[in-house]
Amino acid sequence: MADAMWLTGPVIRAAAGSHVFCVDNATGETPVSLRLRGEIVDVFGRPLVSDPAAADVVLSIGRTSFDSDDAFRIREERGGGDGVRTFIEGNTAAAALYGLYAWVRRIAAGQSCADYESAPQQSLRMIDHWDQVDGSVERGYAGESIFFGDLDSNEHIDYRYFPARPGADPFRGDMARIEAYARMLASVGVNALALNNVNVRGRAADLMVQPLLGRVAQIARVFSGFGIKLFLAINFAAPKKLGGLSTADPLDPAVRAWWSDVIDGIYEAIPDFGGFLVKADAEGEPGPMQYGRDHKDGANMLAEPMGRHGGIVIWRAFVYNCKQDWRDRSTDRAKAAFENFMPLDGQFADNVVLQVKFGPMDFQVREPLTPLIGALEHTNLMVEFQITAEYLGHQIDVNYVLPQWLSMTGFDTKAPAELTGGDGRVRAIVPALSPNPRCSGYAGVANVGMDKNWTGNKLAQANLYGFGRMCWDGEATAESILDEWLALTFPEAGEAATKAIRGIMLTSNRTYENYCAPLGVGFMVVPGVHYGVSVNGYEYDRWGTYHFADRDGVGVDRTVATGSGYTAQYRPDNAAMYEDVDTTPDELLLFFHHVPYGHVLKSGKTVIQHIYDTHFAGAAAVDGYIEAWDSVRGSIGEADWANVAERLQRQRENAIAWRDQINTYFYRMSGVPDEHGRTIYA
Ligand code: GCU
Repeated sequence: MADAMWLTGPVIRAAAGSHVFCVDNATGETPVSLRLRGEIVDVFGRPLVSDPAAADVVLSIGRTSFDSDDAFRIREERGGGDGVRTFIEGNTAAAALYGLYAWVRRIAAGQSCADYESAPQQSLRMIDHWDQVDGSVERGYAGESIFFGDLDSNEHIDYRYFPARPGADPFRGDMARIEAYARMLASVGVNALALNNVNVRGRAADLMVQPLLGRVAQIARVFSGFGIKLFLAINFAAPKKLGGLSTADPLDPAVRAWWSDVIDGIYEAIPDFGGFLVKADAEGEPGPMQYGRDHKDGANMLAEPMGRHGGIVIWRAFVYNCKQDWRDRSTDRAKAAFENFMPLDGQFADNVVLQVKFGPMDFQVREPLTPLIGALEHTNLMVEFQITAEYLGHQIDVNYVLPQWLSMTGFDTKAPAELTGGDGRVRAIVPALSPNPRCSGYAGVANVGMDKNWTGNKLAQANLYGFGRMCWDGEATAESILDEWLALTFPEAGEAATKAIRGIMLTSNRTYENYCAPLGVGFMVVPGVHYGVSVNGYEYDRWGTYHFADRDGVGVDRTVATGSGYTAQYRPDNAAMYEDVDTTPDELLLFFHHVPYGHVLKSGKTVIQHIYDTHFAGAAAVDGYIEAWDSVRGSIGEADWANVAERLQRQRENAIAWRDQINTYFYRMSGVPDEHGRTIYA
């Protein structure tokens, strides 16, 4: 059985105490997740009582006047004597469940439940799985897919759900694990999930039609019980591959009719299906441009039949030329999303959402916000984050990423006040600038797999937890989210150990940045794998990810005056800030400017000395983590302790490799020695 997560851990059982639950349901809607194995039970598996007067906790559904379907209120009523009854109220069964989970969380964290109300900041709070039907996970670092896999060698299949399983199919069938996962996601407010990888290969294209659709429907039902809608990633060439048509041209009537039939079929099997997630004309995936059409033609073609059923089409903006010639200095990959999608602003259907990665490149440890966010004024928007640690240490290196994400969602795009109502920060404009705010929000690429603790490195759970909390409560801080997670995950740890783990995690994102590519320049990773250092791994390749280091300096000139002109894509105040080397924040200097090694940063250090100092500091910090983690031993479960201890040793090797290769490379390039005379291998 999988390791306990924050909702099934001992603390939660303690929080449940001896409470007796009752559901007072004015809507007639059954909260499916309270139906365990056919019986109506509370989330702790105990039978509910039917009489509200006899219950300590009443889940009241459909008796509130909230605008939001997801908002909830928790209030306590004092009865006669000492008795306190808790009412958890929401418009829908999902809202009441969010309230129930919040109640559990607040008890665990020692917070008051006397009068607490909450509504989510983002409408779509989505997890994107990059799982493939062969059981592997693209950019997955926590074992195989929890959905797909080789059934012949699988001992997990739960025959209570599949009494008459037809011959081999690509589904793992571990429905108990899927249910545990759904509960965990619902407990942090997630309400949408894409089942399969955006690169839709092989049989993955068949998931949207029978017979595999029937199995997808079984999974969808489990998620639906927790208020989570299921989405499928589709292959734009499916009309040819699956339908036997000669084209996938989105304006071709036969193609349109084919998609319409497929979508009708999906809704027959999954009445509350969420919709499609589409990677088109990107990194070799098929798309409308092959037929001389554009993204709007492709997305709107799917949106029409989808809209008849209340579904949506999520169209990804990760589109760029991945066959660039490194010799070509006129192309700048950072400009691509804006160039491709800004001209289409206002032309997408009401139920199309553009899903945009937060940075202009690709989930680096440091990037500016993509200028497309804040520029689009008439397009539904989702911001894409990557919970799985592709460029952030593969869940080997500790990397609590909330500080970075929150700095992105808190970035002021400077979108005009007459459009935004005065708050230009990302977290505010996503709903405010989306014409149909229901179709807006955040998506995070999943970091879970079949590993016992779900995420490979136990501490990587905090990023999944934090993603959900950030979607819901946008003003929560990285510290407060971490404190919740720690209280739920290591309730037995005690003050000193909790402090030690907290100290490691809160500095871990900066530590990782310190030993990786400097000052926002990005990449310098081993090509393909994206773990470990390779300074020139991508320098003479086709991906548009260059650092341009030479004997005089380093960095990418993206200014209008002398570079690629990328800075002009920002709103004027931000464009001016990034155009000027003196007002560009230090940490993004090399993303925007090519500067000499002797350039003095706002910190007072030269670029070259900064490179040396951060790389020594980054590697030293990992030694400190190992020491701190040793002090935690005995305060948390031994398996969790050992899991992280082993990874910290690997992180140490990684950090040292980065430190030495980066320092040596820049020493050889610049010829400038370290002011402090530390060891740099010349
Ligand atoms: C990155 C990643 C790919 C992924 C792509 C995407 O480039 O390395 O594995 O397919 O992003 O987001 O589509």
